[in-house]
Amino acid sequence: MPADIFATAEKGAKWVAHEIANLIKEKAEKNDPCVLGLATGATPLGVYAELVRMHKEEGLSFKNVITFNLDEYYPMNNKSAQSYNYYMDDVLFNHIDIPRDQINVPDGEVSKEGIFNYCSEYEAKIDSFGGLDMQILGIGRTGHIGFNEPGSQLDSKTRLIMLDALTRRDAAKDFNGLNKVPKAAITMGVGTIFKAKRVILMAWGEGKAPIVKKALEEGQSDSVPASYLQRHSDVQFVLDVPSANELT
Ligand code: F6R
Repeated sequence: MPADIFATAEKGAKWVAHEIANLIKEKAEKNDPCVLGLATGATPLGVYAELVRMHKEEGLSFKNVITFNLDEYYPMNNKSAQSYNYYMDDVLFNHIDIPRDQINVPDGEVSKEGIFNYCSEYEAKIDSFGGLDMQILGIGRTGHIGFNEPGSQLDSKTRLIMLDALTRRDAAKDFNGLNKVPKAAITMGVGTIFKAKRVILMAWGEGKAPIVKKALEEGQSDSVPASYLQRHSDVQFVLDVPSANELT
């Protein structure tokens, strides 16, 4: 699987932002929609900052962009500062010209009774656009992509999932304590991610080095869901030097 190693996370993030911008412009020239799969967390912050800069300083328009986010905690008040709905508005959507009705982030407030149908409809909506043109990903220390924790199958679809104990511990700082971290999330499946025409996974920092090695260089298995990406026809790992540290 191709891995591009950048001198710094900032340089890697800028490169990814420019790949996204080029795709948006290419699609706009043909009057086509550009369907992007987006991630949250610390990893893509530099990408969003650069996209906002390009919008403000270079006139990059997002009018033809349709977005689908990977995941949201469940249950979750969508307006809470810990929600991924809030995060996306805060770091990207409030600063660009994307029409609100072209934004899709899983709804943390959907009722328990309605969640099964909600997830099928999210999946069907992605399919109705012919799948994602590009999906960007971070990677969790459990090997999750989206919130597809160990045990997630290659053909898994958008669904409710229980979070791994390590994932909850990693999130505890954002929630002021482990007991406040939701136990579940709505996530696109590995199979949903696989429908993306192009996938870019980013990882920064030495904390990610062991899982990057497992995902890239060890066998494919549901114990490291990111390892399934080895089978995708257009996938790229974008790394900084510390996260690539353990690669052979
Ligand atoms: C977030 C997501 C997760 C994160 C992963 C890494 O939407 O899908 O898979 O990408 O947990 O999180 P950070 O970037 O905070 O290290």
